[in-house]
Amino acid sequence: MNDLIRIKGKRKLKGEVTVSSCKNSAVAILPAVVLASEVVKLYDVPEIEDVKVLIKLLNLLNIDVRVSDDELTIDPTNIANVDLLDEDVMKLRASYYFMGALLGRFRHVKMYSPGGCNLGPRPIDLHLKGFEALGATITQEGNVIEISAEELKGDDIYLDFASVGATINIMLAACFARGRTTIENAAKEPEIIDISSMLNKMGAQIRGAGTSEITINGVTRLKGCIHDIIPDRIEAGTYIIAAAACGEDVTVNNVIPQHIEALTSKLEEMGVRLEQGSDYVRVFESEDLKPIDIITQPFPGFATDLQQPLTALLTKVDGDSHVEETIYLERFKHCAELNKMGADIEVAPGKSTIHGGKQLHGTDIFATDLRCGASLIIAGLMAEGETVIHNAYHIYRGYDSIVEKLRAIGAEIK
Ligand code: EPZ
Repeated sequence: MNDLIRIKGKRKLKGEVTVSSCKNSAVAILPAVVLASEVVKLYDVPEIEDVKVLIKLLNLLNIDVRVSDDELTIDPTNIANVDLLDEDVMKLRASYYFMGALLGRFRHVKMYSPGGCNLGPRPIDLHLKGFEALGATITQEGNVIEISAEELKGDDIYLDFASVGATINIMLAACFARGRTTIENAAKEPEIIDISSMLNKMGAQIRGAGTSEITINGVTRLKGCIHDIIPDRIEAGTYIIAAAACGEDVTVNNVIPQHIEALTSKLEEMGVRLEQGSDYVRVFESEDLKPIDIITQPFPGFATDLQQPLTALLTKVDGDSHVEETIYLERFKHCAELNKMGADIEVAPGKSTIHGGKQLHGTDIFATDLRCGASLIIAGLMAEGETVIHNAYHIYRGYDSIVEKLRAIGAEIK
């Protein structure tokens, strides 16, 4: 995979783009198959690097995965609970879902601690607190973590922060725990509803996903199922922002509008002209956009994953816009790169001020994480001249065929 993306900017985007299915669902659903005793069939799995890595980890557990187009047939009947001490574990943070799944199924797991985007400290203390509440003991030697339990017994677990990962990981570990587990202050992201509905199809008894209180009544076995992963709301938001930045008339298909309400209402507040259907958002060329203030929040608030792409658009909007991060205080590495292109963004701890009204110009810039990379692509589409984005592998972790999709709506990108 070539690690540079080259963009000749200021092409008007026009046409239709279709969103793939949700990365942050897929990366939880694949490890969750460990809990199944029969074949699981997944439709619309995004062809992204993170999925490829997780398939290799499933293979390490002697789980057969057959890929045909974007359908996966996963056969866990010969699963072996081997230690996951492979460097692939460190390639993505979501590998930590194998902790909850293997603990839940076998009451033992030994693996490397996760890796993933550098968005500042990303502890997993809430995950581990949940596992301990279910009766597990945890030992950590260096970056090897071992979790085991004589027996897993349901308990009431309160999350100090509505963590997406902790909510899902505890849900996985609790599926076979004896009795009832409740997760208070649970995260409410759509991905949590998606994985809970798949587990319930397999015979789990999970109620309340999507609300701040989830209950799991333990069962003894999960069968197989067929599951269609929800569309990726962050990918959808990224293309909608790109269209608002340099689109003439772009329709983004395969969207669940309720999943991106915080974004679309903010864009409308800015003066972006949108038409929303039941499964698409159409963006028309919009002039004289107004600056706005953004505060990131857990769902249904404004998604932290979209503040970086939106920042690129805000560089051209006259006036000062403000972004405040309440989820990842250090998620501002894209600003220095945008400033190399002529933006004028000030960064303070947990917040940025974008002095807009600037015309960006192309130059060499460096992606530092997945959504930073998306922000730089949008900047390249807006900029005069050629932009060369280095470390493009970050982008391929979470955006299926982004170069092809943008080229198909008129971008000059390769
Ligand atoms: C998920 O990460 C997503 N990743 C992130 O998307 C997303 O930004 C994030 O949720 C917030 O929406 C996946 O789903 C694979 P959290 P996650 O646990 O689960 C702190 C992308 O670009 N925290 O809700 O790791 C943590 O440090 C990625 O697709 C603890 O302190 O997010 C952070 O400040 C980036 N202790 C905050 O909570 C814990 O045990 C949010 O974390 C867990 C989290």
